[in-house]
Amino acid sequence: MSTAITHGGPGLPQERRLVTEIPGPRSRELFARRQAAVPPGVSTTLPVFVTHAGGGVVVDVDGNSLIDFGSGIAVTSVGNAAPRVVERVRRQVADFTHTCFMVTPYESYVAVCEKLNQLTPGDHEKRTFLVNSGAEAVENAVKVARHATGRQAVVVFDHGYHGRTLLTMTLTAKNMPYKQGFGPFAPEVYRLPLAYPFRWPTGPDNCAEEAAAQAIDMINKQIGAENVAAVLIEPIAGEGGFIEPARGFLPRIVEFCRANGIVFIADEVQTGFARTGHLFACEDEGIVPDIITTAKGIAGGLPLAAVTGRADLLDRVHPGGLGGTYGGNPLACEAALGVLETIEQDKLVERARHIGEIMLPRLRAIQRGNPIVGDVRGRGAMIAIELVVPGTKEPHPAAEIARKCHEQGLLVLTAGTYGNVLRFLPPLVIPDHLLEEGLSILEKALNGD
Ligand SMILES: Cc1ncc(COP(=O)(O)O)c(C=O)c1O
Repeated sequence: MSTAITHGGPGLPQERRLVTEIPGPRSRELFARRQAAVPPGVSTTLPVFVTHAGGGVVVDVDGNSLIDFGSGIAVTSVGNAAPRVVERVRRQVADFTHTCFMVTPYESYVAVCEKLNQLTPGDHEKRTFLVNSGAEAVENAVKVARHATGRQAVVVFDHGYHGRTLLTMTLTAKNMPYKQGFGPFAPEVYRLPLAYPFRWPTGPDNCAEEAAAQAIDMINKQIGAENVAAVLIEPIAGEGGFIEPARGFLPRIVEFCRANGIVFIADEVQTGFARTGHLFACEDEGIVPDIITTAKGIAGGLPLAAVTGRADLLDRVHPGGLGGTYGGNPLACEAALGVLETIEQDKLVERARHIGEIMLPRLRAIQRGNPIVGDVRGRGAMIAIELVVPGTKEPHPAAEIARKCHEQGLLVLTAGTYGNVLRFLPPLVIPDHLLEEGLSILEKALNGD
C-alpha cells in the first residue's frame, strides 16, 4: 500500500489505517537490521519504520497509517513535509547546501535571527545566533551568561531536562537513562526544587510561594547570589512530565534574578513555536527572559536551534567565541522561515489553543471515570496525564498504556521523572477527527479494554 503514496505532507489520507499488526512484518525485518547495526543505547519508542508523514498521520513500510500524537517529540508542529518548508528547502538545496556562516554568510541566517529577535518576548534590543541542537543552544546560553557576568554557578530545577552533552546532561535532573555511568559531571551546577503542584507536599495552593522561597533561600545560603551566572528553567518541564510550575513561581524567580544580576534563561526548546497556545510559553505569565533557547519546532524537522537574548549580554563575547561549522545551515534556515510563515499565515497559535480545548475536557472526563489518571495538565497542544495507583499518588507506569495505544495505531510518548506520564504533542495541523479518534483509543487503553 505504501508504494501507492508518492509523497508525504498534508495531502496524505488523514486516516488511521491498520493493515498489519503493529509493528508489521517489514518493520520487524528492518528492526532486526537496526539491532545489528545501531547500539541499544539509542532507544526506540515504537519500532515501525516510516515512509511518509504529514498532517496528523505517520505511514509505515507495511502500509499502516498511525495517528501522530508525538510530532517527532514536538518538532513537526507545522506538520511533516509542510508545503512552505518543502518548497523553500527544495529551492535552497539546488542553489547551495553549505558555506559555513562564519566563513561566507548568507541572507536566510540573518532573516531567521531578525525574526527571532522580533518574535521572542520583550521589546528590548536582542541578538540571535544559530546552532544545531537544543543541547548546543543551552550550552551556549550558559557560556554567554558566564562570560557576561564573570560568575560560574548555574542553577537548575528538579525534573528539568536540557540535553545529553556533558554540560546539559549535568543540568538535567533525571539519572536514568540520561546520566547513569556517564560521569564525572560538570562543576558548578546546583539543582533546586521545582514548584510541582501535583506533588507539592503542602498542596498546590501553597506551591508557588513555598517553592520560590525555598529556591531563593537555597541560592542565598548554599551558593551566594553573587556567584550565580544563570538560572535556567523550562517554562513547562517537558521530559520531566509536562509540569507547569505553579503560577507565580516563575515571576518570583525572575524578580530575584533581576535584583541580583543573574541571567534568567528560559529553555523553550520543547515549549516554543506555538506549541502551548502562545508563540513562547513564557508569554503565559508575561515573563521576559534575558536569554531564550529554542530548537525542535523551529525548522519543521531540519536540525536548527537558536540562542536569543539581550544584545548587551550577547555582544560581550569576543569574535570567534561563538559558532560552529553547521550552525544555521542554509537548508535549516529556509525551513525555519517556512515554519514561521506557516505559523503566522495558518494561525497555528490559535490552532494549538483549539487542540487544548478539545483535549483537556475529554481527558478530564476520562479522569473522572478512571482513578488511574491522577492529573491532567498542560497548555495548548502540549498536554499530559500523570498516572497513579488508584487512591494514591504512587506512580503507575505509563509504558504499558502507551504500548496498547501503539498497537491500535496511536503514536503516544511517555515522560516523567517517575515514568508515569503520557504526553501528547500532536502536530498543530492534525484534523479534529483524528484527535477525537486518538482520545477514544487512549480512553480504551486506560480502561484496560
Ligand atoms: C527543554 C529541552 N531542552 C533541551 C533539549 C535538548 O535538545 P536536543 O535533543 O535537540 O539536543 C530538549 C530535548 O528534548 C528539551 O526538551
